Amino acid sequence: MKFFVDTAVIDDIRELNDYGLLDGVTTNPSLIAKSGRDFKEVIAEICKLVDGPVSAEVAAMNFDGMVAEGEYLAKIADNVVIKLPLTLEGLKACRHFTGKGIKTNVTLCFSANQALLAAKAGATYISPFIGRLDDLSIDGMELIHEIREIYDNYGFGTNILAASIRSANHVKEAALAGADVATIPPGVIKGLANHVLTEKGLDQFAKDWAATGQSIL
Ligand code: G3P
Repeated sequence: MKFFVDTAVIDDIRELNDYGLLDGVTTNPSLIAKSGRDFKEVIAEICKLVDGPVSAEVAAMNFDGMVAEGEYLAKIADNVVIKLPLTLEGLKACRHFTGKGIKTNVTLCFSANQALLAAKAGATYISPFIGRLDDLSIDGMELIHEIREIYDNYGFGTNILAASIRSANHVKEAALAGADVATIPPGVIKGLANHVLTEKGLDQFAKDWAATGQSIL
């Protein structure tokens, strides 16, 4: 499963990229607002930093507006992916960009039927939101299982990008469900490395090593 980081904070992206843990980046209008940065500038900066796909979301609600904005954003860098809402207008725009060889990420997906439509529109990525379904006491991960089954039934090439990931358990469950990608907040990605027994074992090794009085170099 590929790891995208779900943030517009450059320092976090740089840190994870330096660890070699990043396959791409996703942003959305809320993350841009939180970063306090200029949208187009920050997308250009991220695209220089990361080789993989970088999702930049349109703000328009209608087809013409989405096409105009998406075409502008696609010119920022070769690795820009145009993020479009899962509406009929967004799906039409998705078909338009797919026809032009521009990659798309159809976002705000909350049902298997919506994911089926996105695949039929030729989306590169579909973003089902796990955490926001869990917030409503609906099993978000079940949606990933359903989409995986439907896409496999028909050989759709659209990548399942598990979004609205809130915890390490979400990451594990998305991987078990066969998501192609998970987009994850920076803190959750770093937290995946933690285990109390790793820390305990390392403490013991450090003490025992010191007792040998040896040095490797
Ligand atoms: O980028 C979309 C998604 O990951 C947002 O997550 O936590 O705001 O539901 P969240």
